[in-house]
Parts: sequence; C-alpha cells; structure tokens
Amino acid sequence: MLNFLSWLYFFSVTIMNMFGEQRKIWYGSGIIENNLKLTEQTFRLTLTVPGTLPTVNAGQFVMLRLPNRTNPLLGRPFAVYRVSGNVLEVIYVVVGKMTEHLAKMRTGDTLDLWTPLGNGFSTVNTATHIIMVAGGIGQTPFLMLAEKYVQTDSHCTLLYGTQNIERVIGMDDFKKLGVDIHLATDDGSCNKDFVSHHGFVTDLISKVYQLGEPTQIFCCGPRPMLHAAFQIAQQFNLPCEVSLETSMSCGLGICFGCVVKCRCEKENKLDNDNDNNHDHETWDYRRTCIEGPVFDAYKLCW
Ligand SMILES: Cc1cc2nc3c(=O)[nH]c(=O)nc-3n(C[C@H](O)[C@H](O)[C@H](O)COP(=O)(O)OP(=O)(O)OC[C@H]3O[C@@H](n4cnc5c(N)ncnc54)[C@H](O)[C@@H]3O)c2cc1C
Ligand code: FES
Repeated sequence: MLNFLSWLYFFSVTIMNMFGEQRKIWYGSGIIENNLKLTEQTFRLTLTVPGTLPTVNAGQFVMLRLPNRTNPLLGRPFAVYRVSGNVLEVIYVVVGKMTEHLAKMRTGDTLDLWTPLGNGFSTVNTATHIIMVAGGIGQTPFLMLAEKYVQTDSHCTLLYGTQNIERVIGMDDFKKLGVDIHLATDDGSCNKDFVSHHGFVTDLISKVYQLGEPTQIFCCGPRPMLHAAFQIAQQFNLPCEVSLETSMSCGLGICFGCVVKCRCEKENKLDNDNDNNHDHETWDYRRTCIEGPVFDAYKLCW
C-alpha cells in the first residue's frame, strides 16, 4: 500500500513534469535538520534535500507527507517560508493529525515532500506600496514576497493579526528586511517594538493606505478575514490577491479535492442560461492547488 502511494505520487509528479506547465516539481525525501518550537503550538521546520531545489516563488507551497504511514494517509500543504539551495523552511501550527506528528519529529527523521506547487503571488506590478494582510499563521508566504518587493524599493507593510501577542511569529525576519510592521490582537496584548491595535487586523488597512498612492493588497489567513480585506480593497478600488488555505489531497491538480467557486466569463449562450443576474458572467470550479492558492479576490465567488 505504502509503496503504491509513493509510486502514485512519483508517477503524478513525473506526468506533471512531462506534460504540465513547464516547471520542475521536486519529489523525494527530505531530512529534518531542525524542528524548533517557537511558541506553545508553533514550530519552524528546516528540511534538507539531496541536490538542489528548483526555484520557489513567493506564495507557492510544499506538500509534506509522513513516510511509511497510512494515518494520516495524505500529505498536507504548507507555504514555503524560505528556501535556499537544498534547504527549505516551513512554519507550522499544530491543529490536527499530521501537525501533531510533525511536532514530535526530531533531527534526522525524514519526510516526503513535493514542491514548488501552486501559482504564487504576482511580483510584477506598478504599485509603490505593498500591503500584506496576514491572520493566524498567514504570514508564512509573505517573507519571500517582502524579499522580492523590497528589492524594487516598494514600501512594504505587514499587517498581522493573531489572538494574542504570544502567537506572533517571525517578526525579526520581516524587520531585517525593513518591512513596516503593524500588529493586531484579539485580546489587546501588544509588543512595545511594534505598532499594535486591539481588534481586527483588517481595521488597519485604511489606516496605512494613503489615498491615491498606487497600492497592491495581498492577503493570507482565515476566509472571513480575506473577505473583509477584499471588501476594503473594493471600497478603495485597489487590486487584491488572496491566498486560500483550502484542504488538499494531491496538490498536483489530479484529485479535484480542492476546488473553489470562481467567477468566469460565459463561453457561450447555453452556459447557465437560468442565471439572469449577470449577462456575461457565470461561475465554475478552480483547483486551489494548480490555479491557486493565490486568486484575484475580484474573481472569487465569496
Ligand atoms: C496553500 C496552503 C498553505 C498553507 N500554509 C500553511 C503554513 O505555512 N503553516 C501552517 O501551519 N498551515 C498552513 N496551511 C494549513 C495546513 O495545510 C493545515 O493546517 C494542515 O493541513 C493541517 O493538517 P493536520 O493533519 O494537522 O490537521 P487535520 O487533522 O487535517 O485537521 C485540519 C483542520 O480540521 C480540524 N479538525 C480536525 N479534526 C477535527 C474534528 N474531528 N472535528 C472538527 N474539526 C477537526 C482541525 O482543527 C484543523 O483545523 C496551509 C494550507 C494551504 C492550502
Ligand atoms: S489537491 Fe488534488 S486537485 Fe488540488
């Protein structure tokens, strides 16, 4: 059974590499270099792989799977926090079966992984102010995005909301890049080093946005937060990309287990003829692992 699963993943990855979009997906076994506990429930996992990893773009993700186990059977998606050569970092929070196992793993243990997956954030645009809105563990894809944008001299702001200040992770990494950091906590706890707000992280968007300044909003976190951020972006008519944390099985576009409803143009008159609300528009499913996880917020069916 296990061999069959490994072969199935290997086969899928090979097919993807041969016929899919022209990109290389690395599949194999990674060795845990470090699995550092950062807070009560959050860990930083550093993996090394044989050879060199392909280029990973900000917002792309890795699937991790426990080898030689059928419970949990499937891999789980995690944003790539940082990658260099043959070293890949992920920050994860313990929420269920797989992450509970991960938290118990030690240096030298192995994990199956395949990466890079998904589309990633857009990194070419005319905005001079980049506002990244993160909730919970949603800051993880933003370190690589900030790295990209600080090189273009864009003003980068991170708005980061958590339940309390103990759950704020990775701010030193963002600070080193010169990112302007604003925190929001549900309970009002704060850190003297950063501007802190008692309330929703989305309250901060209108505070940091300068009317008229070309601005791009990127969001990652729980869906209600993404929706709230999108509504504010809409008010100011700002471009907005959101990264979804949809459950996944294969991560390769094969199982269709990760679909979300997106708006699209009607291809012909017969498409959804009963839908009288929009003349030219209809909806269809899109796979989060292939066409996402990053979506133009204006194209999602909220
Ligand atoms: C593109 C992408 C990037 C991501 N990046 C990150 C990241 O960087 N860091 C990170 O920590 N996470 C990230 N996630 C989320 C991560 O994939 C999930 O947290 C992970 O799959 C959880 O796996 P698990 O086996 O530990 O939890 P599971 O056991 O699969 O549980 C998943 C969820 O279901 C809930 N649940 C479990 N059992 C039950 C039950 N019996 N009844 C009700 N609810 C239940 C859990 O509380 C949890 O919220 C990302 C997801 C995506 C799609
Ligand atoms: S997870 Fe299988 S198609 Fe997306």
